[in-house]
Amino acid sequence: QDQLKRAVARAAVDEIVPLLDRQTVIGVGTGSTANLFIDELAAYRHDFDGAVASSKASADRLKQHGIPVYDLNGVGTLPVYVDGADEIDTELSMIKGGGAALTREKIVAACAQTFICIADGSKYVERLGGFPLPIEVIPMARSFVAREIVKLGGDPMYREGVVTDNGNQIIDIYNFVIDDPRSMEATLDQITGIVTHGIFARRGADVLLLGRDDGVARIT
Ligand code: A5P
Repeated sequence: QDQLKRAVARAAVDEIVPLLDRQTVIGVGTGSTANLFIDELAAYRHDFDGAVASSKASADRLKQHGIPVYDLNGVGTLPVYVDGADEIDTELSMIKGGGAALTREKIVAACAQTFICIADGSKYVERLGGFPLPIEVIPMARSFVAREIVKLGGDPMYREGVVTDNGNQIIDIYNFVIDDPRSMEATLDQITGIVTHGIFARRGADVLLLGRDDGVARIT
């Protein structure tokens, strides 16, 4: 799987390098696949200006490679955002947040013209929901949100010991049927106390680079 992740990380670099100029600031995601992308990107650090990161961990990794990291405020629209996913379906809707970085990921993705998802073949599914859906909650709302989730048919589980980069907590929803990601995204958006949930459907991926044993498939 590591080889597949590295292959898609390289493919993403190949895809964006022709678009880069010295003024370009790109969006960079979080997780093991995004880490490999950062490592591959390092060779081109003089061909673009810098990056906006979706987590402190990615920001640190970018800086270690000498890639300048900018605050999103002041940068404006990003031409491209590259990130992994926990699950992605054939419509390129995703579940994200396995690494607890979902809020910043959703914000950076919202600012990007093109979202390139990089994933190994195990992430590609017909229907989202096999992976427990992460939800970032304001700490005092955790039990309330959990009760609302039960009403929607899910089994919420507190991810103990995890504090997000924003100082909040994570609930993972198990056994959650997501037949219509856009509609479930809208439903969850309405629950008070949820900061962000891990369904990325309205702003899904534009391009999926999927690592398979026989090579990298480019799916749009
Ligand atoms: C981070 O919060 C997630 O959204 C990641 O993008 C996701 O967990 C993918 O991570 P891996 O590349 O490590 O599988």
